Amino acid sequence: MDLQLRDAGVVLSGASGALGHAIARAFASEGARLVLLARKPAALESLVAEISATGAPRPLALNCDLSSASSTDAAIEAAERALGAIDVLVLAAGAAQGGIFWDIDDAAWQRNLDAKLFGSIRSLRAVAPRMTARGRGRIVVIAGNSARLPEPRMLPGAVANAGLLAIVRGLAEELGPHGVAINALNPGPVRSTRWQRMMQAEAERAGTTVDVAEAPFLAKSALRRLATAEEVAQHVLFLASPRAAHLTGTSLTVDGGSTKSP
Ligand SMILES: NC(=O)c1ccc[n+]([C@@H]2O[C@H](COP(=O)([O-])OP(=O)(O)OC[C@H]3O[C@@H](n4cnc5c(N)ncnc54)[C@H](OP(=O)(O)O)[C@@H]3O)[C@@H](O)[C@H]2O)c1
Repeated sequence: MDLQLRDAGVVLSGASGALGHAIARAFASEGARLVLLARKPAALESLVAEISATGAPRPLALNCDLSSASSTDAAIEAAERALGAIDVLVLAAGAAQGGIFWDIDDAAWQRNLDAKLFGSIRSLRAVAPRMTARGRGRIVVIAGNSARLPEPRMLPGAVANAGLLAIVRGLAEELGPHGVAINALNPGPVRSTRWQRMMQAEAERAGTTVDVAEAPFLAKSALRRLATAEEVAQHVLFLASPRAAHLTGTSLTVDGGSTKSP
């Protein structure tokens, strides 16, 4: 199926992350034109080179600290200048700290919420009016299945994700009449370095092995395995594409059946 993303102007935050890399590659393989955001654009150079080598349009890597409104605004402004128009915004940035609730101090809560919840708010505030003015656009917010299945040791991320689902649901009403769609994607755990780090920390805390720490998550999944970043990226492409034309204000949970819903 042609996802009709050829030449689409796509802005992707979190592009230096595990999911961001896979999402960037997936858009590039559809012929989209990409602007990749991260705090250290140099970290994106190998991804830019890899994508360019496939013959896909060369992505532009831009510096953007989502914890700063001025940095976010400047990056979105530069992205729009480079692309002409932002057709698609994908928010895949975030930082999640695990730990026992009473050991996570205010600073850690603030860091987590600032990167993901407020970072997404800043990005949406900068992009949404540009899309509504043009009368078109699609936005995909990577939240997480922890919005509905909060794990006791991963609450900062779960709170950010739950807030994002509320924003997606509410903002869809504001954007819809202007031809702009917004949806969330809720991955379960994805096999990535970040996940590995979190499981390592959990194993050390519990005095056990990574395999033992991970076992309850595998057991919850109907498929009994974690997703790959590439699998998640395919669902992002669909939500970002004109093929998902009548979908807005909702979320797609991609967690191998961990969330039990009819
Ligand atoms: N991987 C999973 O298992 C999983 C599951 C469910 C949901 N998610 C969600 O999916 C998203 C991506 O996850 P991931 O595994 O790819 O994470 P990751 O590998 O840790 O990457 C995080 C990304 O966020 C960016 N970032 C963090 N703070 C930022 C800030 N202040 N300003 C700009 N960029 C910032 C990082 O960029 P720089 O550090 O280079 O700036 C990096 O690109 C996160 O929101 C996460 O909560 C992930």
